[in-house]
Amino acid sequence: MAGTKTLTIIKPGAVSNEFIGPILAKINEAGFHISAMRLFRLTKRQAENFYVIHQDKHFYNSLINFMSSGPVVVAILEKEDAVSDYRKLIGHTDPAKAEPGTIRKLFAESVERNAVHGSDSDENAEFECDFFFSKCERFSKFDPLHF
Ligand code: CMP
Repeated sequence: MAGTKTLTIIKPGAVSNEFIGPILAKINEAGFHISAMRLFRLTKRQAENFYVIHQDKHFYNSLINFMSSGPVVVAILEKEDAVSDYRKLIGHTDPAKAEPGTIRKLFAESVERNAVHGSDSDENAEFECDFFFSKCERFSKFDPLHF
C-alpha cells in the first residue's frame, strides 16, 4: 500500500518571491493535511546531508549553495498516495516541462530554482521526514494520539 506522507521544501527563491502563501494554498486545495512545518535556513552541512543521494551529480555544489542561501519552509504533507499525488501537483523538475497549473509551472524560475522539493518515493519520504522532524513535532491525522 502506498504511503500517506511526503516531505516538501519551499525553496529559497520561492520564499524570497513571497510565494509561501500561494504554494501552501495550492497544497491545501489539493487535499493535503500539513502535519509538521518550519521556516528556517539550512546550513551547508544540512543541505549536503539532505541531498547526499545527488553528491555525484554535476549540479550538486550549486544546489547546496542555493538551498543554503536563504530561508526555506519544510513541511510534512499527508493524504492517501501522498508521494505520487504531490509529485503530480508540483510537476516536472524542470518548470519548462511542467504541466500548466502545477506548482513548478506557476512559481519556479529554472530547474535549480524550481520552487519546491517533493519526496520521490515512500522510502525517501521516511528518511526526509525523519531528517527534519521528531515525533513530538508531528500532528498526523492518521494517528489520533498525535492529532
Ligand atoms: P529537488 O526535487 O529538490 O531534488 C533535487 C534537485 O536537484 C532538484 O529538485 C533540482 O532543483 C536540482 N536539479 C535536478 N536536475 C538538475 C540539473 N540538471 N541542473 C541543476 N539542478 C538540477
